[in-house]
Amino acid sequence: MYTSRIAGMGKYVPENVVTNDDLSKLMDTNDAWIQERTGIKERRHIKKGDGNSTAVMGVKAAEIALDRAGISKDEIDLIIFATLSPDYYFPGCGVQVQDMMGIHTCPALDIRNQCSGFVYGISVADQFIKTGMYKNVLLIGSENHSGGLDFSTRGRGVTVIFGDGAGAAVLTRSEQEGHGVLSTHLHSEGKHALELSLKGPSTNHWVPQIIEENPQEDIPYYPYMNGQFVFKNAVVRFSEVIMEGLKTNGLDVNDIDMLVPHQANLRISQFIQKKFQLSDDKVYNNIQRYGNTTAASIPIALCEAWEEGKVKEGDTVVLAAFGSGFTWGSAVIKW
Ligand code: ACO
Repeated sequence: MYTSRIAGMGKYVPENVVTNDDLSKLMDTNDAWIQERTGIKERRHIKKGDGNSTAVMGVKAAEIALDRAGISKDEIDLIIFATLSPDYYFPGCGVQVQDMMGIHTCPALDIRNQCSGFVYGISVADQFIKTGMYKNVLLIGSENHSGGLDFSTRGRGVTVIFGDGAGAAVLTRSEQEGHGVLSTHLHSEGKHALELSLKGPSTNHWVPQIIEENPQEDIPYYPYMNGQFVFKNAVVRFSEVIMEGLKTNGLDVNDIDMLVPHQANLRISQFIQKKFQLSDDKVYNNIQRYGNTTAASIPIALCEAWEEGKVKEGDTVVLAAFGSGFTWGSAVIKW
């Protein structure tokens, strides 16, 4: 039986730093509110003309990951791309990455699971590798949120939270038992789909209809989030799915060397940390600098933790995510 392990990681964030004070010039918000409620100090936004897009940032992160993994693009058997902010309505970013990187005609799969996209992607990659079907999988999470946010006061409850960026991992076949991805755990609950959603343009609400309605108040084409409801569900599901992962592997919270939670809100991470009584060095947070980058948040955080020497060989690393859908999941990895 094969296992999969992360052979290399990469990240990319746009150079353009947007502080809370910058946002307060565009909408009625302030640094104190944003920091107190979310922990965010600044985020990165693509700047018009800087050449970035969701796929382009994904390529930049992927090139670093491949280089660190020591794997050439010709050895990639599958591309998985997780995003809620693709460059095109269709096709997905996976095939764009394939073209931009000059990768041969391997399959490219796009994942639509928002903040849980990267954990879902690890699970998909792991299944393909375990069965022996594929050896090397390139997994990317990337988001261009700034291109679709409402920067007026109307959108402040959502807009201040999100940032742009990309992270990537190369998952590769291993025959070392008890190492690499030990297990993944995925869940969803579609009845809450509209609590965190962007309804249009969609085939339900297509462009001519929006133009015809010329909506002043109705804003289906900006993201909607029932923040408090999402928050309450997130803390419960994060806890459950972390415990599920630990239990499956006969572990408990004391075995965690590093927890990398999806960077949704620093208050959510702190709640989980307190609940599990984890010390500061066992939970990685960088939402303060990047905001919530959805599908990119876990790979950016995991990559940084590894770059800073905070994730080392033999460590038990737990990834956990929760987001729109609702979807949630965890992965337990022996590094
Ligand atoms: N600046 C200043 N005031 C604001 C802002 C802002 N940016 N946004 C909202 N407010 C105001 C509101 O209008 C409200 O004012 P009122 O009391 O006069 O009506 C007040 O602040 C409180 O608003 P709430 O929405 O109740 O604030 P809350 O404490 O719930 O914080 C937040 C909002 C940060 C969004 C929080 O609910 C949260 O983090 N939720 C979870 C987010 C999350 O985990 N998302 C999942 C991942 S994302 C994904 O999957 C795509």
